[in-house]
Amino acid sequence: EKKIIIDCDPGHDDAMAIILAASGVSHLQIEAITTVAGNVGVEKNTRNALKICDLVGLRDVPVAMGADRPLIREPLEAAHVHGKSGLDGTGLPEKPVKRTVDTHAVDILIDKLMASDGDITLVPIGPLTNIAMAIRKEPLIVSKINEITLMGGGTYGNRTSVAEFNIYADAEAARIVFESGAPITIFGLDVTHQALASSDKLEELTVIDNLAATTVADMITFYSNAYKGNFAGAALHDPCPIAYLIDPSIFELRQVRADIETKGEFTYGMTVVDFKGATGKTLNARFATWLDQDRFWQLFLDALRSY
Ligand code: BDR
Ligand code: CA
Repeated sequence: EKKIIIDCDPGHDDAMAIILAASGVSHLQIEAITTVAGNVGVEKNTRNALKICDLVGLRDVPVAMGADRPLIREPLEAAHVHGKSGLDGTGLPEKPVKRTVDTHAVDILIDKLMASDGDITLVPIGPLTNIAMAIRKEPLIVSKINEITLMGGGTYGNRTSVAEFNIYADAEAARIVFESGAPITIFGLDVTHQALASSDKLEELTVIDNLAATTVADMITFYSNAYKGNFAGAALHDPCPIAYLIDPSIFELRQVRADIETKGEFTYGMTVVDFKGATGKTLNARFATWLDQDRFWQLFLDALRSY
């Protein structure tokens, strides 16, 4: 069993990442779910995380609320993608049964990592505020982190021409994380846009008859609207790092140097990836370039069938 902490801002694709991680095809042990401001405000994101825990029966996993804003910049939301609640379009009950723990997300991250044998993988799938705050509050966690397997960045953008939402939403935090020395694996737009929920995929999903699967079908239907016109379907960004941890052989990765732009007039929030070793700087990340679409979908559908 691999131990993970999911740091998230649910968010349709965050919700799907949690559903995949908690499914019967996963050997991942979820140590905690921490939440951060991102797609919508942190309170709404937290409520959505609790709703998903209720849905998939994550009764004992602590859910801790984290930062309500980025470190320095003004908050930025993506309600145009995920709706006002952050998780519009599902029939989930309005009020979750599960409650958060009283501890702040940053302290849960620190406590879990410091008490561990260095075997916890962090899976940030929202802005990196909580992770950066935890590193600043207790720098000793860096050597305790097995790996940071994150969704963010890419060689092109979705929020600006060069910046992806999670990085752009708190670029200063992302920079702290990328320069921390912790091993990083990046699932950016280059690879997550290969995980497209096209209409034939949605059809296969619709015949699976359980509440997790029908909820995911509703989520994809809602969330696809944001992608109409631009892409061949909704991208399942956040499930990618989880799929990788379940079955790394689905992906191809390259060792790179990746830095976060925090000053550029046109490039703020860009993930600057040195593929050719031009900078001569220490390689600090692995960058996912490709995924096997058939096997990714097989895994995702099997996960939903397991409920
Ligand atoms: C990322 O931005 C958010 O809207 C999604 O949940 C995902 O984490 C994609 O750029
Ligand atoms: Ca997210």
